[in-house]
Amino acid sequence: MASGSLQLAVALLFGFCGVFSFPLGQQQKKDTTTCGYESCHSTKANMLNVHLVPHTHDDVGWLKTVDQYYYGDRNNIQHAGVQYILDSVVDQLLKNPDRRFIYVETAFFYRWWKQQSPSTQQTVKQLVNEGRLEFVNGGWCMSDEATTHYSAVIDQMTEGLRFLNETFGACGRPRVAWHIDPFGHAREHASIFAQMGYDGFFFGRLDYQDRSRRMAQKEQELLWRASDSLTPPMADLFTGILPNGYNPPEGFCWDQLCSDAPIRDDPDLEDYNVDDVVQRFLRAANSQALVYKTNHIIMTMGSDFQYENAILWYKNLDKLIRYVNAQQANGSRVNVLYSTPSCYLQELHQANLTWPLKEDDFFPYADNAHNFWTGYFTSRPALKRYERISNSHLQTCNQLEVLGGPTSRKGPFGKGDSQTLRKAMAVAQHHDAVSGTEKQHVANDYARRLANGWQHCQVLVSNSLASLSGSAAKRIYCDHLNISVCPLTESSRQFSVSVYNPLAQPLTWPVRLPVNGTAYRVTDAEGKPVDSQVLPVSRATQEVRRNRGFALNELVFQVRAPPLGYSTYAASLIQDRPPPPPPRHGAPIVIQNKYLQATFDPDTGLLSSLSNLETKQTIKLTQNFYWYNASDGINKDSHQPSGAYIFRPNSSTLSTVSRTAKAENFQTSVVQEVRQWFAPWVSQVVRLYADSKALELEWTVGPVPVSDGQGKEVITRLDTSIKTAEFFYTDSNGREVLQRKKDFRPTWQLKQTEPIAGNYYPINSRAFIKDDKDQLTVVTDRSQGGSSIQNGSLEIMLHRRLLYDDYRGVGEPLDEASEIFPEGLVVRGRLLLSLERPASAADTHRPLAQEVVFQPLLTFTDGDLKPNAQLEFSGLQAALPPAVHLLTFSQWDDESVLLRLEHQFQSGESQLYSLPVTVNLQKLFSTLDVLGVSELNLSANQWKDEMKRFDWTPQKEETPTLKKFEDPSVWEVTLRPMEIRTFLLRVSRR
Ligand SMILES: *[C@@H]1O[C@H](CO)[C@@H](O)[C@H](O)[C@H]1NC(C)=O
Ligand SMILES: *[C@@H]1O[C@H](CO)[C@@H](O)[C@H](O)[C@H]1NC(C)=O
Ligand SMILES: [Zn+2]
Repeated sequence: MASGSLQLAVALLFGFCGVFSFPLGQQQKKDTTTCGYESCHSTKANMLNVHLVPHTHDDVGWLKTVDQYYYGDRNNIQHAGVQYILDSVVDQLLKNPDRRFIYVETAFFYRWWKQQSPSTQQTVKQLVNEGRLEFVNGGWCMSDEATTHYSAVIDQMTEGLRFLNETFGACGRPRVAWHIDPFGHAREHASIFAQMGYDGFFFGRLDYQDRSRRMAQKEQELLWRASDSLTPPMADLFTGILPNGYNPPEGFCWDQLCSDAPIRDDPDLEDYNVDDVVQRFLRAANSQALVYKTNHIIMTMGSDFQYENAILWYKNLDKLIRYVNAQQANGSRVNVLYSTPSCYLQELHQANLTWPLKEDDFFPYADNAHNFWTGYFTSRPALKRYERISNSHLQTCNQLEVLGGPTSRKGPFGKGDSQTLRKAMAVAQHHDAVSGTEKQHVANDYARRLANGWQHCQVLVSNSLASLSGSAAKRIYCDHLNISVCPLTESSRQFSVSVYNPLAQPLTWPVRLPVNGTAYRVTDAEGKPVDSQVLPVSRATQEVRRNRGFALNELVFQVRAPPLGYSTYAASLIQDRPPPPPPRHGAPIVIQNKYLQATFDPDTGLLSSLSNLETKQTIKLTQNFYWYNASDGINKDSHQPSGAYIFRPNSSTLSTVSRTAKAENFQTSVVQEVRQWFAPWVSQVVRLYADSKALELEWTVGPVPVSDGQGKEVITRLDTSIKTAEFFYTDSNGREVLQRKKDFRPTWQLKQTEPIAGNYYPINSRAFIKDDKDQLTVVTDRSQGGSSIQNGSLEIMLHRRLLYDDYRGVGEPLDEASEIFPEGLVVRGRLLLSLERPASAADTHRPLAQEVVFQPLLTFTDGDLKPNAQLEFSGLQAALPPAVHLLTFSQWDDESVLLRLEHQFQSGESQLYSLPVTVNLQKLFSTLDVLGVSELNLSANQWKDEMKRFDWTPQKEETPTLKKFEDPSVWEVTLRPMEIRTFLLRVSRR
């Protein structure tokens, strides 16, 4: 019988190769460590080698919360339990040393590891040491790429990779980055991965037109040059596009969640199908090989939350390998093996080919003509802002943990810590978290985690400030200042506010506090009076705060805070002063300070121009609010509705909220502002503070009305006289800026099928439009989607309210409400506008964006601070040069701190600042002595001098200028444009 001889051939084959798969679990070949590339199975040079990669994709929250997924709770929503996946996989790996598994999400692995017995932990270490269980990616989660900020991405990768290194040592260090699910890919992510030492990167999703072109030209594997500033190969990352998303080829899914036929290989039983399976598999392998370059291909054998009962997969994969390879005896040229992404990558590297070079990014992502995944750039705007603020709180918490010393963690206010918030932030970077593509109850869980983390940090911050100031007065936190709510300032006659500045440069910042008095005396840390003004609380703010506060007025003044430190201001009520003058009605002709002037159209109440008074440039600028009606899916072209992921307006025509704004204005010495009212659900304040180089647009949108049965995507649009010629610019994860062009992609001939949604790009921290003379930059306070559809204009999507699910799995329409806003969520945010000459615009927008991301933290104390309290403090000996951003300053262990210094300018972006800059680490801190320094890779899981990556040759290589840069001395480190350097400093306190 055919099958008898087949089995004989199998035995011969395996005997010959020295690979023993039977009997199972007997061979423990070596006890030496052979993880990494050495542990890969051998391949056959003259055959097509098919790398089977058993894997599971475990979302760190999506339809269920992260902990529900871990435990396998709420299986009525989705059957998924990660604890069982790890239990089951470990068990099955032990049964056959040939088997392989990769694990990706450290948030889950960490949860599981904590619960294992020492003997299971030992067994797992053995599996890792032998390369049978391999970590890939290894961050706390698989981050979203469109809506995350690089600071939080680096932190979450560091968190996961540190756990892996500390638990498993070098064998736990992933070689490959693995973003199989995120909905489009950011260039800055690739740059970050390269600097973290990864040898390669694999992903699953890209534009369908791009994919088909790449398949035809065998360009699904490429070299991504991910920075315009960093010297190659610093930001070069080999990138592979997986053949089938991250799923197995059709017909070969053997998980309990699938229903493909198992391999039925007993000829005595019914439905023997080995020949059929082998033939189908050979066809799948050969057709896949047609669209890749080498004689190696990869197949992802797994999918979402698979391997909960791993025996199903492994039993069938064992057989598949056996029966397909048996055909080699009959002349088959296909060799199947258990593998991992790094083993596959190693083969590609050894192939020694040249690879196409890519220098743009993979946004936007469309899976079909009318299905652009550009809605999630804005989805859940309140969660996106909360995540961004939480990042700023975390950086402050980290810094104060170092500066305040051990009493920060255990001091007069109890036990505090930074790790609760660090882990909550890491979870929030997941591609269904800050992206806004999760179910409502899961979004609530992410927010609750952040709030809980912030509670832990508040204790730490209070302890630290007590230690630094010498005053144990109770610190009060007002987290609702954006809606003018702060019980202390509303009722106190005398209070002080400390402004902590996490930046390494001094900061001038406007403070607005809800009060009920009509005049206050405000003094700075030296007791000198500070100009302050009292303005009535706006109607829009009263409506949005509802019954959470009762302030009639806002006290406004500007503060200056030293670098990496705080300054304390005192305010006391002045009795018997008349109430502040009421607003003047209508828009004024002009508001201005020493830098900027904005004019308004007296008829419409809208902005009409913006001038920079220093550079003497003026542009026409009108700004208004509009919406697109969302597609409901009832449409002749496609049944795709707009939803949490997908933006699909039902036409390109915008509806205008109102052609005119009712306006009132205040012009004071501290701030000039115009309050515009467009509709019951849209209002705005246009503000110019005395010392600000940016015009602030504080928008309030919601509840978005949907009683007409139409979902709405609300935008603001800036229409200018700038001659943009269809170009506009958006940042990548808050760092380097990419040029965009309407209806255009740099790497393929685009067939545009969605004139609005197909032109949307993620804006993480800024976007701009420019011509030869003028550049208008908009700095945002959270991630948003945006575009330039008309010449001279820039639009930003602010809020979305939708009535249909978009069929990408979340199963809910994006229709946010809350207890306080049962009729629909109201969202408030800020856009900061600067107008500069293009050659020097970065000098303003780079520091401005960092001030928004690393915003100061205000703490309050009631009454007078003790006379001997230290009212001002800086952790630095001197401010860092303007080009240098202090990205990370956090306690690593008892003796050392982690420091990241970043050059925050791109090369060629600024005449003043796009130059190398040197910092002396020993002269950095005012209260710490630096005793030793070691440099690390960007993710702090490898010493810099041990970091060796595969080198790859791009097609059309101009010989890279590999200048070797030397620091002036051990203590003096030089940063070049866009460089981030990571150091572990051994410190002692003075
Ligand atoms: C790779 O190819 C180049 C020429 O294309 C050759 O010089 C080099 O020796 C090859 N390297 C290996 C390891 O085969
Ligand atoms: C990695 O972890 C090991 C202990 O497992 C430790 O000795 C080593 O210093 C760590 N490496 C880095 C770069 O932190
Ligand atoms: Zn996912």
